[in-house]
Amino acid sequence: MSRRSVIAGAAGIAAAQFGANSSSARPVPFSMDRLIEDAKQAVAAGGGQPAIEEVLGRAISNHDEVLTALGEPTDVGLQEIYRADDLTILNVVWSPYMVQLPHDHKMWATIGIYSGREDNIIWHRRGIHAEAATASSVGAGEVFSLPEHGVHSVTNPLPRLTCAIHIYGGDFFAAEKSEWDPETLRERPMDFEAAQERFRDANDRFRGRE
Ligand SMILES: [Fe+2]
Repeated sequence: MSRRSVIAGAAGIAAAQFGANSSSARPVPFSMDRLIEDAKQAVAAGGGQPAIEEVLGRAISNHDEVLTALGEPTDVGLQEIYRADDLTILNVVWSPYMVQLPHDHKMWATIGIYSGREDNIIWHRRGIHAEAATASSVGAGEVFSLPEHGVHSVTNPLPRLTCAIHIYGGDFFAAEKSEWDPETLRERPMDFEAAQERFRDANDRFRGRE
């Protein structure tokens, strides 16, 4: 198990099924260790993304408890919670009004919001270009998923931090992902270093106004 913290790129943060849904699961005490073990077991059992949606939905059903357990975030960025060849779990904190470029993950992704809101634009591929298709606004206690070849961009529409747990069906950091230029909407290899820098800049701006 890997539990080290990093401020990483906005690289991929996001989720799947082109729609958000509220979990109706019974609230249970939140534990990150339990979430990690449940997610590992779900993947090992072959449950794939649907099983992860259930696991994550249950975990964040009491989103206030998740925030209490993890603590009020002090930094913007991606915190690596767990990383393996078949599963990655991140704790993602978005700065106020932060925007992430259209990007893919090369693997399925499921996001659970525990504070704030993520506004997603879902893009369709049109050759080397991306075309805006649908949108999904995901709030606290809700889970959102993207399929393996899904493309999305993310905005935090709030004047405060948004916090989410992102789960990916592979090694998120090892995958060679794509992003789409926000002006021309042309596909290009994701520049992960540049994405990391955008997160660091966002964190500096956020900390600078404290
Ligand atoms: Fe993403």
